Amino acid sequence: MVRPYKVKGFKRKKREEEEYYEEKEVKEEENEREKTAAEVEEAEGEEEEDERRAEEAVDELPGIPVVPSNANAGAGVIIILERASLEVAKVGKTYQLLNSDDHVNFLLKHGKDPKNYRPDIAFQAILMILDSRLNKAGRLKALYVKTEKGVLFEIKPYVRMPRTFKRFSGLILQLLQKLTVNASGKRDKLLRVIKNPVTQYLPLNSRRIGLSHSAERMVKIQDYVNAANNDVNLVFVVGAMAHGKINTEYTDDFISVSGYQLSAAYCLGMICNALEQKWNIL
Ligand SMILES: C[S@@+](CC[C@H](N)C(=O)[O-])C[C@H]1O[C@@H](n2cnc3c(N)ncnc32)[C@H](O)[C@@H]1O
Repeated sequence: MVRPYKVKGFKRKKREEEEYYEEKEVKEEENEREKTAAEVEEAEGEEEEDERRAEEAVDELPGIPVVPSNANAGAGVIIILERASLEVAKVGKTYQLLNSDDHVNFLLKHGKDPKNYRPDIAFQAILMILDSRLNKAGRLKALYVKTEKGVLFEIKPYVRMPRTFKRFSGLILQLLQKLTVNASGKRDKLLRVIKNPVTQYLPLNSRRIGLSHSAERMVKIQDYVNAANNDVNLVFVVGAMAHGKINTEYTDDFISVSGYQLSAAYCLGMICNALEQKWNIL
């Protein structure tokens, strides 16, 4: 049976229409794919740029310089920074030291409170200690830092620390990934991750003093250090976190040095000052 012309024409028109739309769809899909590829390329370019910058910060620190040391200069002090907020995570494609300014979205996405990510506290505290006259006079015998995650590391008192937060972050990143940072061109390990507990590195004749605003005993720090015998090594334990108390399990004494809540750096400044007075370091 022959189909009427009108029906045949209608079917052909319909097939042509279908082919047109199929072709259009394929073209659109191709365009979409090209567009997505371009977007991905652009995003990858940006990430690579971030990665390059992050790596640069670390590469600039293949080793760090030292300052002339004045070790064996008499009685000394050991400082321990507790609960330092120094945590590394993979953000995008690169590992970074987490901080509450740059990683808010990342931290919230992982259910963490940005307020607790304050590596700047440890940064300021470390600079305060290393810049002190006490250290320049060779009286800082050792500096230990324990992170919130329980990683313990040692910083040699004669290290020349980076002075910008970005470079400090690069240095800590390098330390936490490679476990040591050497002096430029030398094998001397200026920063190195060591085994817990910190107590195994403290001299036998040491007095461990924990500091907190909430300690019941408030002292005048100058009187307190003046009363200490020079044969005893003083070990001060100060928190490098934003909130909470330090671990006092291994301290012999627990003191407050002011009725105000102070920053770790200021508190360390008071300790250094008091010791500088006691030992007549100008
Ligand atoms: C930013 S505070 C931490 C805040 C915490 N609420 C506290 O007072 O321990 C950092 C560190 O500075 C020291 N600190 C602050 N104020 C102090 C005070 N009035 N007396 C002694 N140490 C203090 C503590 O070692 C503290 O862990």
